[in-house]
Formats: sequence, C-alpha cells, structure tokens
Amino acid sequence: MSDHTQVNMTEMNYDKDRPAAANPVKVMDLTLRDGHQSLFATRGRTEDMIPVAEMMDEVGFWATETWGGATFDTMHRFLNEDPWERIRTLKRYFKKTPFSMLLRAQNLVGYRNYADDVAEAFMDRACENGMDIFRTFDALNDYRNFQTVVPKIKEYGKHFQGCICYTMTEPRLGGEVYNLDYYVNKAKDLEEMGADSICIKDMAGLIAPYDAYAIVKALKETVKPPIHLHSHFTSGMSPMSHLKAIEAGVDIIDTCMSPYAYRTSHAALEPLVMTLIGTNRDTGFDIRDLAAINEVLEKEVMPKYRHLLDDTKTSIIDINVLLHQTPGGMLSNLVNQLREMDALDKIDAVYKELPKVRKDLGQIPLVTPTSQIVGIQTVNNVLFDDENERYKMITGQVKDLCYGLYGKTAVPINSEVQKKALKDYPRGEEPITCRPAEVLEPELAKAQEEIKDLAVDLDDEVLYAIYPVTGKKFLKWKYGKEEPPKEVMPRSLAEAQAELDLIKKAKAGQLYEKPEAPEKGENLRTFNVYVDKDYFEVGVDEVGGGPVISYVQPGAAPAPAAAPAPAPAAAPAAPAAPAAPAPAKEEAAPAAAADGTAMNAPMPGMIVSYEKNVGDAVAEGDTVLILEAMKMENALAAPCSGTIKAINFSSGDSVAKGDVLAVIG
Ligand code: CO
Repeated sequence: MSDHTQVNMTEMNYDKDRPAAANPVKVMDLTLRDGHQSLFATRGRTEDMIPVAEMMDEVGFWATETWGGATFDTMHRFLNEDPWERIRTLKRYFKKTPFSMLLRAQNLVGYRNYADDVAEAFMDRACENGMDIFRTFDALNDYRNFQTVVPKIKEYGKHFQGCICYTMTEPRLGGEVYNLDYYVNKAKDLEEMGADSICIKDMAGLIAPYDAYAIVKALKETVKPPIHLHSHFTSGMSPMSHLKAIEAGVDIIDTCMSPYAYRTSHAALEPLVMTLIGTNRDTGFDIRDLAAINEVLEKEVMPKYRHLLDDTKTSIIDINVLLHQTPGGMLSNLVNQLREMDALDKIDAVYKELPKVRKDLGQIPLVTPTSQIVGIQTVNNVLFDDENERYKMITGQVKDLCYGLYGKTAVPINSEVQKKALKDYPRGEEPITCRPAEVLEPELAKAQEEIKDLAVDLDDEVLYAIYPVTGKKFLKWKYGKEEPPKEVMPRSLAEAQAELDLIKKAKAGQLYEKPEAPEKGENLRTFNVYVDKDYFEVGVDEVGGGPVISYVQPGAAPAPAAAPAPAPAAAPAAPAAPAAPAPAKEEAAPAAAADGTAMNAPMPGMIVSYEKNVGDAVAEGDTVLILEAMKMENALAAPCSGTIKAINFSSGDSVAKGDVLAVIG
C-alpha cells in the first residue's frame, strides 16, 4: 500500500480526534436493513432498533440503511408493523445520519413493475416520511425502469444512487455479456441520468477482489459520481474485495455491526476500521463506540433472534455460491421450497437446471425479483417436467418476463420458451419492446376504491396497492377489525431467554428433572421382582387409596417393554417441516368427500384468488385459481371439464401441499 501514508503507531489512539485521513473511506451501515434481512429473514422489529439508534447516530456513518428491500413486505405480513411508521420512528433517534433505502425502481418494494401512478405516490410518501438516499436498482439493469422514480427523487432534492447489479456467467469477470465494458457503460448511463453516486451492487457476494479492483479503477477513471461497493459476505471474498476496492479508490463501503455480520450478510465494520487506522483512508471511527453498540445488540437484541439464525452448518461461508453463482437468499429459498414439497433430494437437479433456465430467460442478473423468478421456475421444471415436455408449469411472472414487462433482458429470451409462455397471455402473444410501465394501466384509483372502507391515508392505500392480499389483512389488524394471530406478535426478551435456557438444558441432558420422592404411605406393598438372576425389591404405593384388584384375561404375552422397537429400515429423513400454517377453515375437511375430481395444491402457498365460482362451468385447461408460492403466482388449470362443485378456501388463505382447493364434477 505504497500510496497510503503510515502514521507512527505509537502515537496512534482510537480517539475520534486523531489526525483525519486525507481521503477517509465513507461507510454505510446496513445492520438495520440488509443485516437482519440476510441473517434473520428480515424479522428485525423497530423496537429492537431503538436501543442502539442514538449511539449509531454518533458513529459518523455516511448513511444508515433502514428501509426497502424485503422490509416493507415482511413488516406488514409477518410483524404486524406499519412499514411507514418505522421511518418516522427511527428518524426521532437518528438526528444526523441520513437514511438510505433500497428501491427496486419501478418494482418499488414489491416483485413486479407497478404503474406510474403507484410509483409516483410511493415516492412522494417515501420522501415525505423521511427517506434521504434512494439506492435504486433494476433487476435487469434496464434503466428505463428508473424513468419514473428518478425525477421524483430529484423533485424532493434527495440523493439518487444508481446501481449496477453485479452478475456473471463464469467464475470470474469476463465473457461475452458481463465484462468490464458492460459495467463501464452502465456507469456512464447512470451518470447521464444524474446519479449522485453509483453503487456496484454485488448481492450474491460474487465479486472477486481483483475484479473489484479492476471495476472500481475503471469507473473512477470514467465517471465523476462517488463509487459505492455493496458486496455480501456469502462466498467469503468480500473483506478482501473491500480492501482491493479501497486501494482502487472506492469512496463508500457497506458493512454491518459485527453481531449482524458475515454468513449471507456483510463483512463487519470493526476489522475494517482497525485495518485502515492510521492510513490515508482511515474512517476516523472510534472502535470503542462500536464495541458499546455491539454490547447492547448482543445482550438486549440478539437473544430474541438467535432462533432464526441458520445454525445447521458450521461453516459461515457458502461454497455453493462460488460453485453456482447464485445469491445466498435465493439458494435458501430453493432449499426451503424443495423441503416443503418433500423434494430436497432434487437439489442437485435444481443446481443443474438453474443455468439453463437463466440462459433461456435472457441470461438475466439474479437479484430480487429475477432470482425468485428464475429459481421458482427452475424448481417447477425439475418437479413437473417430463421427457416429452419442458416448461410444463410456467409461473405468471415468467410469462410477464417473456412479454417484456420487466424490461429488456441482457440477451434475447429463448424464442421457443417465449412462444410457449405467451400462448393465450392476456396482454397479447407479441412481446413489447417499450418501457414496461408504458403498457400498464393506472392502478392507484382502483386500489383506493377497493380499500376505501379500511384505508385512512395515502400510506395505507399505497401499501394496499403494492400488497393487495396481505396489505388488506394488515390494515384489518391495524384498525382493530381483526385480531392479529399470535405468531405476528413480538417476543419479549424474557420469553426468548427462557427458550434459550431450555435449549441449553436440553443440550446438557438436564431437561428431565427428577421429582422429589413423597413420603411412603401406609398402603405400601412390597414385591420381590426376579429378572433372570437379578433380584429387586419394589415398593408399590397406590396414591389415593387401597389396591384395586382386577383380573387379567389370559391372552397375548405382554410385549417386552424394555426392548426398543427396531427402527424402520431406511426411513426417509423426516423433513423439518417449517410449520406450514394449517388452513384455518372448518369447511375444508369435507371437500375430499364431494363427488368429482379434486384439484390439489401442487405446492404449499397462499391463495391469491379464485377465477371461478361454485356452479361455474369450466373447460379442461381453464384457470381455476391463482396460487402464490414463494411469492410467484401459479395459475392452476382445471384438470378436466365440468362444473365447479366446491371451493374450499378463499383469498389470503395458506394451503399445504395436497390440500383440496376445489372440486370439479
Ligand atoms: Co444486499
């Protein structure tokens, strides 16, 4: 590091008043968004961010990421929290540090492109609620999807950070599509759009240290906006990539506080601070401030979330990411989906199919939502295809992608797959080439009308417009129209601690506590028991009265209790079923008895809507209902022609694999 001034270390101290570096690395903290999203399935609650908020505000972060990505979805769906309220609440504690959010461009905080009117309303509300920096990305790196949100960011005088999603098709940077030129050209496009900073968004932790060096150096030489590196730890390379990026002149680095770091999250801040101390890129942070924050996180917060940590593996590095170039979150989704379908043994087939599906679909980057789109379609192909037919069950989202609704893919989509996907596609069989949102009808007024009895302000309406099914459910909880279920309520520290204590006891084999023996009663009778050559004296004292004599019919000899039943040979390992919520529908049971052909759920999921009613005539192949599985919508077709005899669930219900969803007679 010849270009780094070394300070005499004997004079160095940790204090913030140490000599400032010539070009300090700026740091964005991700603990409160990407950190818990990566490690704890985004389950972090606002109440658990407050204890460290004021301390974090003092560190000197360039920004703190508090919102976006999956938070909006998870908060209202699983935590019974209003996502808008989080920004307002945290703003009361963070007085100096700007807030950053991850914005999926025209996908906002959802999984598809929304109409311009919804996008504009969302941006108005995000800006007015206090968001400062909009880290904006499009899963296809198609910046036409920025055209509605960026003018809004500018209108409010906020910071527009444009992202280039980092992806590749081979183990290192290069190849025909995602090479150095690709990233340089994308950065130029972003600069032209008025980006205040440019982020290399490495969501899967794929960027290798020397590639990070090459890209950052090239971007610093080509464009003016500051360069920001976001790289997940997943593969284990990110701390090295950070350092090489710093040597190449990167301006801003993303890290997490150490309790929220590593695994599929990000490199920790503390080692970076110590690495740079005394150099011309010294962050200027006081490591003791960070230690104090960590102590609060470890003692008051982490016990509530430890049960969500995937502790099934010893290694904190996911070697599969290096092998398959797929984001960690996507891999865990695939594994969960296969497990729920009792098909975990198909994981190798999924790994093999994945690059094929990705190539068929235009060699697109794998990031939300494209990672889910490619991932779920891959699982569908592996589970439902046969030697005669490929792409037997195409999700609604793949159809949209083939139509052009997500934007332009890096290379053209396989024309055969595209043709099959667009057969009878409601918008038309000919794909579009314009900016996707141009073909979307306005959506806001319709959503406002639908939710007018429940929503009280635009925040509620936008929430509903983006998440109609779960959003409506949440608004019912919010306004006391429905009791929220127990599983969405917070856990107290005491509850979490009791559970951890119980686990500790169980691990130590102390879970069974020997009860104290009561006094011997006057009805005590003594028996001599002979087992082979052994002899025991056993006292039997019937509690609450004298002995009751009954006569045993001679019959089958009692089974020897002590002999353990032989384990069934080669029993399939019972999948740790992630407690698929049983449908809370009393009328569900008799369905199977109704005469006719049952339509079973091919996978666990949530009913989005039924397209048919009881009594409707259906032809074989007609869509009867839409089932959302792993956030992808699957149109389930009638297996035969007839009349709908029964419909056993309704919109918003969770169903298990095999549940009878409808009966056709
Ligand atoms: Co991330």
